[in-house]
Amino acid sequence: MLPHEISNKPYAQSSEENKFVILQAIQGFLTERSSVLEIASGTGQHAVYFAEQMPHIKWQTSDLTDAHAGIKQWIADSDLNNVLPPLCLNVSENDWPATRYDALFSANSFHIMSKSNVEDLFAHLSQVLNANGLVMIYGPFNYNGQYTSESNARFDDWLKQRNPHSGIKAFEWCNQLAEQAGLNFLEDIEMPQNNRLLVWKI
Ligand SMILES: C[S@@+](CC[C@H](N)C(=O)[O-])C[C@H]1O[C@@H](n2cnc3c(N)ncnc32)[C@H](O)[C@@H]1O
Repeated sequence: MLPHEISNKPYAQSSEENKFVILQAIQGFLTERSSVLEIASGTGQHAVYFAEQMPHIKWQTSDLTDAHAGIKQWIADSDLNNVLPPLCLNVSENDWPATRYDALFSANSFHIMSKSNVEDLFAHLSQVLNANGLVMIYGPFNYNGQYTSESNARFDDWLKQRNPHSGIKAFEWCNQLAEQAGLNFLEDIEMPQNNRLLVWKI
C-alpha cells in the first residue's frame, strides 16, 4: 500500500488516532455477526481498518457522493475482499438499501448532521437491520443538557458557526428516537477524548 503522503488518498489524523480504541469497543459486539452497514464512512480509513481486523465481517461503506472517490481509493489499496464500495447514502434521502445487515455503525456523524438527519436515520433502522441487529454510534454526546467537557462545548460552538444545523446531540433525545424505532438501549461506553460509543439492539 502506498503511504498516504504520495497516494493522494484523503487522510484524517483523527481516524488513525481513534481506530484502535473504537475497534476494541465494537469487536466484542460483532463476534457472532457477519455484516455491517457503515453510515458516513468519511475517508474510508475506519472501514478498511475494521474490515482488516475483523475478516468475518462484510463491511458495507456508504456516504454522500463527494466522499466516494476517497473511500474507493482506500479500498483499492487495501486488497481486502470484505469491504464493499460505497453506497450513495444520504440518511434523509430515498437512498437506503434494500439489503439488511447485522449491525449499523457510524462515527463522528451525528454532530455533523442536522436533528432531522438523525431522526431520519433512526426512522430507517428497522428497514436495514436483521433480527437482533445492533446500532453502534461513536462520537460526542451531551447528558442532562450539559456538555461533558469544556472542549466539547468549544467544539459545539465551532460546529454551529460552520452550520447552525450541526451540533452535539443529546443522549436522551437519541435514546428516545431509538426507542420509538423499536430499539433497546444496550450500552453507553466511555471513550477517550470525551467521546462515547452508544449501542442499541433491535
Ligand atoms: C466528520 S465526518 C466523519 C467521517 C468518519 N466516519 C470519521 O469518523 O472520520 C462526517 C461525515 O458525515 C457525512 N454526512 C453528513 N451528512 C450526511 C447525511 N445527511 N447522510 C449521510 N452522511 C452524511 C459526511 O459526508 C462526512 O463523511
